[in-house]
Amino acid sequence: MQKKRINFFWVTIISFVIVYLFFKFGTPFIFKGIKGGDNLIPLPGTGLLMYTMLLILAIFTYISFSAKKFEEFYGPIVRFLRDGNRAAYWIVMIITPLVIGFGVFSWTKPKSVSPTGIRIQHPGLPGSLGTVENPLRHPSPEDIEKFRGEENLGSMGEEEVKLAMIEKYTNEGRALYQANCHPCHGCAADGNGPQADGFRLRPVNFTDPGAIATVVETYVFWRVKEGNPSLPPESTPWDSAMPAWKYDYSDEQIWKIAMAAYDIAHAMPRMPEEVH
Ligand code: HEC
Repeated sequence: MQKKRINFFWVTIISFVIVYLFFKFGTPFIFKGIKGGDNLIPLPGTGLLMYTMLLILAIFTYISFSAKKFEEFYGPIVRFLRDGNRAAYWIVMIITPLVIGFGVFSWTKPKSVSPTGIRIQHPGLPGSLGTVENPLRHPSPEDIEKFRGEENLGSMGEEEVKLAMIEKYTNEGRALYQANCHPCHGCAADGNGPQADGFRLRPVNFTDPGAIATVVETYVFWRVKEGNPSLPPESTPWDSAMPAWKYDYSDEQIWKIAMAAYDIAHAMPRMPEEVH
């Protein structure tokens, strides 16, 4: 007697489920391995949908390779429906329309109601940063002398050395900005990056006089370092896509990025109020 094989229909269904579970729960580990860092990187919903469609397409291509495979797959379904048992009747006549109907209903019913609260674009700085200033824009005399030595600036005046420092750091920041921020904030910092249209809460246009020109540089440092997760509730009726960069960059690099953001936007940071 021929050894009994697991039937082709179930092999197909089980393979589908295994590959789908791999897409959903396995790929985050692979992406994490490629990207590094501590967090799993899940596949976005549309990506998962696309992969699943391709998987279904592949399965049906495979099934239709030969008339035999075709029969092995569809045979059980056709027999199940034809044999006139009650389960088939229930599935075809009642459960399928209900499930599809419910799917269409939940898909088409209006989903997100716009929040009624007002979003605060510029929440207050956290207390711990209240008195912090950009150490690269305000270097100490020792830093200036160190820089003079490193760059062989000889007897150049202190103020000029300081300007050369700022220029160098800003240029380093520009490279980091164009590599990381331009997809959302745009190469000209005008909030028109190639991804900007994808967000309900658009990236801020830094060249607008009401944007980063109205805040101190430490504010930009804070927003870049901590990103969306640090926003207080009054700033979160809409979710911000702004990532937290502290996992990728040091404080010094983030200060450079902040300097570059202002420079690219042709704006100056607001000066902190001085107490006389
Ligand atoms: C995935 C898209 C995305 C990337 C990448 C991104 N941002 Fe943002 N960013 C946003 C969005 C959306 C906002 C607006 C919502 C908010 O205020 O958090 C924002 C807000 C900000 C703000 C606050 C502006 C304000 O006026 O309150 C700053 C500063 C900022 N981003 C700087 C940067 C810098 C610098 C980088 C690169 C290191 C960067 N962003 C990368 C999406 C992004």
